[in-house]
Amino acid sequence: MGRLGKVDPSSYSQSELVTTEHSAINWKVDFADTKLRGSVQHRFNVLSSNLDKILLDVRDIEVKNATLLAGGSEVPINYFISDPVADIGQKLTLELPAGTAKGSLNVRIDYETASNASGLQWLKPAQTLGKQHPYMFSQCQSIHARSVMPCQDTPAVKFSYDAIIEHPTELTALMSAVIDKKESGKTHFKQSVPIPAYLVAIAIGKLVSRPLGENSNVWAEEGIVDACAEEFSETSTMLKTASDICGPYVWKQYDLLVMPPSFPYGGMENPCLTFVTPTLLAGDKSLADVVAHEIAHSWTGNLVTNKNFEHFWLNEGFTVFVESKIVGRMQGDKELDFKMLSNLIDLQECLRCQLSGTPELTKLVVDLSNCGPDDAFSSVPYMKGSTFLRYLEDLFGGAAVFEPFLRDYLKKFAYKSIETDDFKGALYDYFKDSEQKDKLTAVDWDLWLNGEGMPPIIPKFDESLANVIKDLSNLWSTKTVDQLTNNPDIKKPISVHQQIAFLGKLIETKDIVELNEQKIDLLESTYNLKQSKNAELRFRINRLIIRARLIQRLDEIIKFANSNFRMKFCRPIYRDLAAWPEAKPRAVENFLKVKDEMMSMCAHTVEKDLGLK
Ligand code: BES
Ligand code: ZN
Repeated sequence: MGRLGKVDPSSYSQSELVTTEHSAINWKVDFADTKLRGSVQHRFNVLSSNLDKILLDVRDIEVKNATLLAGGSEVPINYFISDPVADIGQKLTLELPAGTAKGSLNVRIDYETASNASGLQWLKPAQTLGKQHPYMFSQCQSIHARSVMPCQDTPAVKFSYDAIIEHPTELTALMSAVIDKKESGKTHFKQSVPIPAYLVAIAIGKLVSRPLGENSNVWAEEGIVDACAEEFSETSTMLKTASDICGPYVWKQYDLLVMPPSFPYGGMENPCLTFVTPTLLAGDKSLADVVAHEIAHSWTGNLVTNKNFEHFWLNEGFTVFVESKIVGRMQGDKELDFKMLSNLIDLQECLRCQLSGTPELTKLVVDLSNCGPDDAFSSVPYMKGSTFLRYLEDLFGGAAVFEPFLRDYLKKFAYKSIETDDFKGALYDYFKDSEQKDKLTAVDWDLWLNGEGMPPIIPKFDESLANVIKDLSNLWSTKTVDQLTNNPDIKKPISVHQQIAFLGKLIETKDIVELNEQKIDLLESTYNLKQSKNAELRFRINRLIIRARLIQRLDEIIKFANSNFRMKFCRPIYRDLAAWPEAKPRAVENFLKVKDEMMSMCAHTVEKDLGLK
């Protein structure tokens, strides 16, 4: 595939020559044909004189017309669409008239999306909770905005947008923007803060809301909305805590939308309207950290944005770092460090399983010349990135010194798109005249940014909560069922977070003595796992059941794999099942049965995990 653009290997748009300043979206939502029909009008800023063409990204989009708008007149313009590149899409070339000047240029493109656009998911009434109405949602990160509208689908470019959406009157339309005006069957939106294309988002369904705080609501289908309001009741405290750490919140609104179970991620930081998976509904707020994470993106990612997805750690590593600080403020520093240590166990698992064949993807800064961002996605930018920041924080003298730097960095690069070198430069600038300046030379940047595998240095964390589960997993992996039964040490109460980490640790333990039906039974009864509806617990116990090769429990595992299509859960489950010869045929058969209910990206990745592609 090679590098498509100079600035962004995954986009054709030449942001060094032309940028988008504002986009006006007009969509009519067609549930019968599962298509968006309408137009997008881009106001470009032409940066170079005599520009002869504008290149945009598209994917399976049918362009009807391209029109240049100038001085009240409309002039049709020639356009061409290139052949598709797998996982990337196509290049839309818009030909400009000779002598096009620098500055503003308005182009409207009339088009419709494909019925199977990779960035959209269309649900039939039967696939919703209420069973009465259809539902539609988008997921544009990393490079699916191009399947929703022709655009400069690169985070190097940021634009404001407004939108007019025509939809069935009985449904509610929401976007990553504030609602400007509501008419019957027509909703107007406005996002006045410039955002990258991957943050354009829409959802339409039979939705209701409950208040969570000032300018903050949770949206969901009626049947679960009260449970959602309860589960996410800490949202306004999290928002307050986040702005104490990062600075003022600029997005005006912070709503949550609890998605249908086929939503492929835990959360997505769409501005003004975070999307979250319903698998967070554990009943005890224990998984609400994901909301803290998405809130943190309001600064790290949405205000300061990675210029391309090779520098994705600037989005996710920083966000995990801030998320852990929110957790620290709300639950104490022991919890913060426990979270960081647990993350490192998950990273180990990721390196061992998902990335075992692609060591180059274990680098903090990756090369996406020949790899789509979806294929490169892993825990590495999250966990190695946040560990790097914690290492730097400790090196420069702890939170009291580093948090002011963090705020300075966010302020400096707010509304911009940056690369790793910009971060490095800001750090040097900030500390060069301080007492800490000698520390700058102590950082082995090449090792951190370009080294493979686990982080080269593990900072010193408070291990008190982690040691409990380390001892516990030691006990469970070295003792027989007989030795464990009636052992008082296994009965000591531990928190849900510790239970999750404990099971994760067991999954990462090489040798487990007597991992059999009895041991799994004892595990489940000791920690009340049989009744638990906590998806993080279910996920891990299911992986242990697979490891114990308990074929009699395969139905249960398949049931879990069908209960949601969050990739974090279904990918490892399918991968584990694919490596179990007795179970693989059932896994494949089940996947083929349900894959049309998955978002296309999820279906494609699981297909690869199962070795079907
Ligand atoms: N922005 C990501 C989700 C994402 C990343 C979507 C790349 C598409 C491409 C979001 O903020 C995220 O990281 N979600 C995590 C939760 C988090 C607590 C680690 C998830 O989905 O599990
Ligand atoms: Zn994130």
